[in-house]
Amino acid sequence: MDRTLTLLGIESSCDDTAAAVVRARPGAAPEILSSEVLGQTNLHEAFGGVVPEIAARAHAERLDGVVEQALRVAGIGLDGLDGIAVTAGPGLIGGVLSGVMLARGLAVARGLPLVAVNHLAGHALTPRLTDGVAFPYLMLLVSGGHCQFLLVQGPDQFQRLGGTIDDAPGEAFDKTAKLLGLPQPGGPAVEAEARLGDPSRFAFPRPLLDREGCDMSFSGLKTALLRARDALVAEKGGITQSDRRDLCAGFQAAVAEVLAKKTARALAVAGTGATALCVAGGVAANAAIRQRLEAVATEAQVQFIAPPLRLCTDNAAMIAWAGIERLQAGIAPSADFTARPRWPLDESAPALLGSGKKGAKA
Ligand code: KG4
Ligand code: ZN
Repeated sequence: MDRTLTLLGIESSCDDTAAAVVRARPGAAPEILSSEVLGQTNLHEAFGGVVPEIAARAHAERLDGVVEQALRVAGIGLDGLDGIAVTAGPGLIGGVLSGVMLARGLAVARGLPLVAVNHLAGHALTPRLTDGVAFPYLMLLVSGGHCQFLLVQGPDQFQRLGGTIDDAPGEAFDKTAKLLGLPQPGGPAVEAEARLGDPSRFAFPRPLLDREGCDMSFSGLKTALLRARDALVAEKGGITQSDRRDLCAGFQAAVAEVLAKKTARALAVAGTGATALCVAGGVAANAAIRQRLEAVATEAQVQFIAPPLRLCTDNAAMIAWAGIERLQAGIAPSADFTARPRWPLDESAPALLGSGKKGAKA
């Protein structure tokens, strides 16, 4: 890198309205000057999932304020920027369009370069923002809407080694919580119960472990949990606190084992093509899963990197950073891009069914 770059990032692809300012200086670690995230959980709560129209309207109403706030916290004006990076997909198209229109308006008005960023690239490049990890590395993206292994070889070079063929793990945690009467989001609640339970009492399946490759499946686990719960209810008329803890522990152990074993396989496939194992997404907050993954990295003799949670979940600092990476690599920004609801990072990989609950949230 031969010059200082200060970019505004804008993110509005699901249910977080976010703006951030990130600065990269030659010979220094990049700085996050601000990172503002305004969530919408309360707006969608009553509907059991993100409602695209409500999300789009909320983004349209709030983006201006969030961008202003990000600039204020960073202590700069639009004239202090070298460019704007915006999520152009994948995601809920109404929200993506709100962000793209604002970014385009600002860029044109100020004569700034506008960089279209793939939201998943934002997640995948975050370990370089937080830890300066060198290419190539393996990224496991595990959230409420996504689960995939990406070999990250450059700012615009991603190879998908596998992913879920149905539910994302976060979605499975959320459904498990619902089935057991625990609050949403389910991950933290299930993890807290699991800590007090016996993971060996219920023998839950480890889907697809017997199959070659790095693809995963989590929807069968939820069905197995439902059956185990119903069997207890039929037997005793309900479930006790310790039943619930054991069910959570068994479920979490199954998810952790599938993720760990498939990660080991993905690292083996990558071979010397991956010098580090990085994780991102809300599920990476799970201590038991994190521990298993860390052990896999140690075993494979690669570095383990888990960025702080606020940068693992949706934010705009990762978008600004991905924009900086593209500019630094000399990938020319194109002003006439279109917003894309679907936009696989690795266009050569076969499409996966992906997952559901949160629509296109990654
Ligand atoms: O990355 P994220 O904030 O948003 C999405 O892109 O989906 O991830 C949210 C997901 C939710 O499904 C939530 O239940 C899960 O991450 N999650 C966890 C934990 N904390 C959040 N799953 C397991 N254990 C946790 N501690
Ligand atoms: Zn995301």
